Amino acid sequence: MRSSTSLALVPLLAFIGLTQAAIAPLERNMAYRSPSLSVGGSGLSHDIESIGHQIIRRSAELKRRNFDSVRGGHAADQLVLDYDGKYGSDGRDAYQGNVTFPYGVAAGDPYDDSAILWTHPVPADNTTKDPVCLQYQVSKSQDFSNGNIVDSGYAWTTSDVDYSYKVEASNLEPLTKYSYRFFACHDHSIVSPTGHFKTMPEPNDESVDKLKIAVFSCSNLPFGYFNAYRGAAESNDVDLAMHIGDYIYESAGDGSKGSYGDGRALNRVPLPNKEIYTLEDYRQRYASYRLDKDLQTLHQKKAWLLVWDDHEVADNSYNHGTADSNNTAAGTKDGVTFTDRKRSAVKAYYEWMPIRQVDTTDGLRIWRKFQYGKLADISMLDTRNYDRDITDLYYNTDEIAAMSNDTSRSLMGGKQERWFYKNLVHSQERGAIWKLVGQQIVVNHLHYGQPTFEINYDAWDGYKANRRRMFNTIKENKIDNTIFLAGDSHAAWVYDAIYEQWENNTNAYDPSSGQGALGVEFAGTAVSSPSSYGKSLTKEQYTANAKRLVTINRNLQYADGGTRGYFTVSLSKQEANANFYGFFNNTLPDAKQELLATFNVKRGANHLTRPINGNRKPISGALQGEVIDYKKQKWNGTAFE
Ligand SMILES: *[C@@H]1O[C@H](CO)[C@@H](O)[C@H](O)[C@H]1NC(C)=O
Ligand SMILES: *[C@@H]1O[C@H](CO)[C@@H](O)[C@H](O)[C@H]1NC(C)=O
Ligand SMILES: *[C@@H]1O[C@H](CO)[C@@H](O)[C@H](O)[C@H]1NC(C)=O
Ligand SMILES: *[C@@H]1O[C@H](CO)[C@@H](O)[C@H](O)[C@H]1NC(C)=O
Ligand SMILES: *[C@@H]1O[C@H](CO)[C@@H](O)[C@H](O)[C@H]1NC(C)=O
Ligand SMILES: *[C@@H]1O[C@H](CO)[C@@H](O)[C@H](O)[C@H]1NC(C)=O
Ligand SMILES: *[C@@H]1O[C@H](CO)[C@@H](O)[C@H](O)[C@H]1NC(C)=O
Repeated sequence: MRSSTSLALVPLLAFIGLTQAAIAPLERNMAYRSPSLSVGGSGLSHDIESIGHQIIRRSAELKRRNFDSVRGGHAADQLVLDYDGKYGSDGRDAYQGNVTFPYGVAAGDPYDDSAILWTHPVPADNTTKDPVCLQYQVSKSQDFSNGNIVDSGYAWTTSDVDYSYKVEASNLEPLTKYSYRFFACHDHSIVSPTGHFKTMPEPNDESVDKLKIAVFSCSNLPFGYFNAYRGAAESNDVDLAMHIGDYIYESAGDGSKGSYGDGRALNRVPLPNKEIYTLEDYRQRYASYRLDKDLQTLHQKKAWLLVWDDHEVADNSYNHGTADSNNTAAGTKDGVTFTDRKRSAVKAYYEWMPIRQVDTTDGLRIWRKFQYGKLADISMLDTRNYDRDITDLYYNTDEIAAMSNDTSRSLMGGKQERWFYKNLVHSQERGAIWKLVGQQIVVNHLHYGQPTFEINYDAWDGYKANRRRMFNTIKENKIDNTIFLAGDSHAAWVYDAIYEQWENNTNAYDPSSGQGALGVEFAGTAVSSPSSYGKSLTKEQYTANAKRLVTINRNLQYADGGTRGYFTVSLSKQEANANFYGFFNNTLPDAKQELLATFNVKRGANHLTRPINGNRKPISGALQGEVIDYKKQKWNGTAFE
């Protein structure tokens, strides 16, 4: 079927003025390679029961198709055959009406020679069953005239994939800025907004000396404006946006029972206005978020690297369930089992996100890596949904605490753990300077110091053996310059990274100098989700809590729970700098961005540079060095005193 170089294609190609290699237009849209349509059999990974029937929204004959026995890309191939048979592989019967682009455009996962481009046309005729044909164009300048176009092509999209449109732009040059746009094949006056992205350098490029990434997590629509996205979009020198999870939230957002947040006053109640379970629900939720103008602008301006956390499925997800769902009768929500819910969440994520599926035989795998010249290797992990052992589900906290040190427990599953450790070793061997680890949850040990809440077993603290295996890999292989990035917790934490068992060992790690640390961790606060310190504390209360937290966690050098925001990491060959940005009031659409504190790491040091934040008092939060006098105060096993 792929050899669809038929004469019938010629008229359309001539019409849109293209001479590209002929690929079936439907197949060219990578959305059809998304897990639900193209992955059969083991479907949502190892342990979950087999994927069963596939979900097809399209009505008429296609809806009835049973893909049970279909494996690999055959389901997608079959769809292509069906459409070509029905509409003509020359697209002669494709939709001819108007389309709009209310969700904007997005680019993601750039390599040195390609990137994923995304849009989501909406046909004006919402009853059409015809495929929508879009052409895409990539240009080195914002001028798309003929000589400037470096890649172009066309593809169809249909309601089978919720009209998501994902193509891989290729033939690109490394470390180059590009503009891109989409328009209707039949009418060039119907054009999307123009988007922008930059390719990565070649993996072996030793000259590249600059990379700046803006890192986000936990964007909850009803809780306030996405000022953090606006802040980063206004910065010209950000190369990449990275979202490490909780891009959407699954709960209702109108303050009703069971909802998380109340967006009514700000007109930010996401659709559908209920907790989401089905494919339609998840699709509508993404659509609702993507209408946010700050989010849309940042997608339009930068390429993103994304991984999910729990809320892209549901609160505190793990391989077999979430806090409120599993495959038993009690965990089935509105008739939707956990397996069905997860499949829908995964499919909608692939439809809406400009991410690559690096292994089309593994529909649940989003963990992947990027090589930014010899300056940095970036591992994007999935500590959440791929193969995580059972987590804290609120009703089992004591059990999880008791098993948190079991060697058999894993956050990532064996396959991903092995891949990750091999990557770290390979990065060191190939001479990549910085090892960025983009992942969801707080890595280092964190004692919250509240009688009702001491340890978050839903973070790495619930999977200590996995953490030891990772730090062993770093220590035994002398892996330098590791920087962990984390989110999930709705507060900011900056650490010298150490083994938990060094907590009481003054010989192994010295908190006054950072000597002995194995790397650093930058954990960012939420874009908008409420502080884990508590929702409406005064500034003084937030500061007092931050001060207390840095005195009861020996390697925690900075803590802040008083602001929502994001951080940037800027790398050069000699040093890394992190800027933590905060907003005090997200109920204002144009809240002022504050630079709270900055952190430096010298190449080869593997700890934060002292004095931290140049000895300045942070704008919000507390530094350990500001509160502790290391000459007078000693760690007594639970606190400095
Ligand atoms: C398509 O719809 C948009 C938005 O309503 C409108 O501005 C545009 O003129 C329409 N284009 C055509 C060709 O009808
Ligand atoms: C199409 O749009 C009309 C007008 O907004 C609306 O009433 C109708 O429910 C929509 N139909 C479908 C199938 O979405
Ligand atoms: C399934 O989920 C329900 C709802 O959260 C919970 O009450 C029940 O204990 C869970 N059952 C299992 C076996 O995990
Ligand atoms: C955790 O497990 C490790 C390795 O099995 C062991 O050395 C250590 O003593 C255990 N820690 C606790 C607190 O049980
Ligand atoms: C945030 O801004 C809103 C709108 O001006 C105001 O009502 C509210 O009091 C502010 N909140 C804080 C904590 O300053
Ligand atoms: C450090 O010492 C304190 C007090 O003795 C103890 O509660 C804590 O578990 C120790 N931490 C580790 C990682 O051994
Ligand atoms: C350590 O110091 C803290 C703060 O002063 C105190 O609350 C705690 O009881 C001390 N722990 C030990 C084991 O002395």
